[in-house]
Amino acid sequence: MAPPPAALPPLLPVLPVLPALAALLAALPAAPAARAAPRSIAVVGAGLGGSAAAYFLQQHFGPQVQLDVYEAAGVGGRLATVTVNKQQYESRGASIHALSLHMQDFVKILGLKHRREVAGKSAIFSGEHFVLEETDWYLLNLFRLWWHYGISFLRLQMWVEEVMEKFMRIYKYQAHGYAFSSLEELLRSLGGEAFVNMTQRSVAESLLEVGVTQRFVDDVIAAVLRSSYGQSVLVPAFAGAMSLAGAQGSTWAVEGGNKLVCSGLLKLTKANVISARVTGISLHSSEGRALYQVHYESPEGQGSAFYDLVVVTTPLHPSRSNFTFDNFDPPIADFPAAFQPSVTSVVHGYLNSSYFGFPDPKLFPFTSILTTDTPDLFFHAMDNICPVNISAAFRRKQPQEAAVWRVLSQQPLDKPQLKTLFRSYYSVQVTERQAHPRYDAAKALPPVVLHENLFYLSGVEWVASSMEMIAVAAKNVALLAYNRWHQDLEKIDQKDLMHKVKTEL
Ligand SMILES: Cc1cc2nc3c(=O)[nH]c(=O)nc-3n(C[C@H](O)[C@H](O)[C@H](O)COP(=O)(O)OP(=O)(O)OC[C@H]3O[C@@H](n4cnc5c(N)ncnc54)[C@H](O)[C@@H]3O)c2cc1C
Ligand SMILES: *[C@@H]1O[C@H](CO)[C@@H](O)[C@H](O)[C@H]1NC(C)=O
Ligand SMILES: *[C@@H]1O[C@H](CO)[C@@H](O)[C@H](O)[C@H]1NC(C)=O
Ligand SMILES: *[C@@H]1O[C@H](CO)[C@@H](O)[C@H](O)[C@H]1NC(C)=O
Ligand SMILES: *[C@@H]1O[C@H](CO)[C@@H](O)[C@H](O)[C@H]1NC(C)=O
Repeated sequence: MAPPPAALPPLLPVLPVLPALAALLAALPAAPAARAAPRSIAVVGAGLGGSAAAYFLQQHFGPQVQLDVYEAAGVGGRLATVTVNKQQYESRGASIHALSLHMQDFVKILGLKHRREVAGKSAIFSGEHFVLEETDWYLLNLFRLWWHYGISFLRLQMWVEEVMEKFMRIYKYQAHGYAFSSLEELLRSLGGEAFVNMTQRSVAESLLEVGVTQRFVDDVIAAVLRSSYGQSVLVPAFAGAMSLAGAQGSTWAVEGGNKLVCSGLLKLTKANVISARVTGISLHSSEGRALYQVHYESPEGQGSAFYDLVVVTTPLHPSRSNFTFDNFDPPIADFPAAFQPSVTSVVHGYLNSSYFGFPDPKLFPFTSILTTDTPDLFFHAMDNICPVNISAAFRRKQPQEAAVWRVLSQQPLDKPQLKTLFRSYYSVQVTERQAHPRYDAAKALPPVVLHENLFYLSGVEWVASSMEMIAVAAKNVALLAYNRWHQDLEKIDQKDLMHKVKTEL
């Protein structure tokens, strides 16, 4: 059963204007075509970032532009699914916040559906016992009833809502065609200097400052951040707020798998998807303007092609991609950054409920287990997951039956660890990735503009790593590329946009 509507958190004040915003998003600003459109555009990467960038670039530049999308592995990137018993499961990025307007829009345009929600209960495990148990689906929402966290909960909620409300301004700005040439400018226009600061100070520090207690931070906030980023309460405040917003409100996913958004957008744009690994980009010029040569390798061999405009949507970091940038002056280097290793194990088996203090497996009530920051705990979180296609007849397995669990951990689970969590299992599928930025290593935010018409999308992950952030960044890059191409400087890095969009309406 889906949770009753009464369990929903109070809606943000911005909610009533959503339909109007959605309409605005659909209506594109028609800018003067002072200059011929680019002949060809390349997008590197076909995860959500590349797919959304391709879609928005075509929206702005028009269907006549040749659009090539290079993908080294599979369309969808980190939204890949794994197959267990002929059913697909999300191995990672699973839930989308209710207020993710671009994601909502994609699903609508593509005729996709929201996946049916299957209720379940969450709890936070300390390694020895459950420190908090939930009585319903939404983790933090119900924790509000927990009296000894009462005030902390309200303060947390107010803090998250304030951040979200300011963040939502981006949709208005984008609907009016405004773009930002750096992540700092984007953040500043949404929430002033304080928003920029939120990428540099920890979520713990920010929450303690607004009066949330240390105990609430240790018990609840830490568990949420471990489950979403596999990191501690030292992640920056902005990334923390986004992840807490997801834990607090209602979330959704796409029926058939979130990755359908990527393949759908690429199909819609009729982009030319090229299965190849891009190895580098070199700068040339033709008739006084920049021309980018994209070098790639595929099973058929090496090749290259020239483009007027390029958007890179894969992290420029040696551990993630081997890019070389040639002939650029000043040179473009890798950006100093570290990634947090993260392992997802999708296990089909019988939960060892004894380990969690329930000797009788039939009585185990939880489907989602978060954990506190305890030194000996070898996993961050585990969820009893449902397939990406959920029919009306679908029901969760009984706790004593074999089920599919997704276990998040920093290191791969060894046999004894698997045997601790599961009485026995049929299969284990491991995805090991440098999944998220390691936020404590972040010093400055990466650039968006690498060269005249060469852009970098993935840097936004250093602000926060989520599907909607990526979609927002894709829209920004497309608008920025378009505004720069047509030298519409009025639409780039404008100050006082709240006032401007009001008077423009
Ligand atoms: C464990 C985990 C859980 C998550 N949970 C959530 C969640 O609940 N909600 C949420 O909103 N977000 C979640 N996220 C974040 C979300 O999955 C990502 O933000 C998003 O999928 C990133 O999309 P992307 O296109 O930027 O990157 P990617 O999906 O990584 O796409 C980059 C693409 O580029 C390709 N590529 C790399 N190098 C090259 C090259 N040289 N040439 C050509 N192609 C190349 C890759 O193969 C890949 O397909 C989660 C992430 C992880 C890891
Ligand atoms: C931002 O941080 C700096 C240094 O950490 C501080 O001096 C400044 O007051 C902060 N600004 C805001 C608006 O919070
Ligand atoms: C799963 O859902 C998607 C999207 O609705 C649909 O295209 C696909 O056929 C479904 N697959 C199965 C096995 O039902
Ligand atoms: C990059 O190149 C190095 C050395 O050639 C290699 O070890 C590494 O695996 C490569 N990384 C990726 C992501 O391909
Ligand atoms: C299950 O958990 C109990 C209690 O921690 C432990 O003694 C046992 O070894 C675990 N594994 C199995 C397979 O029962």
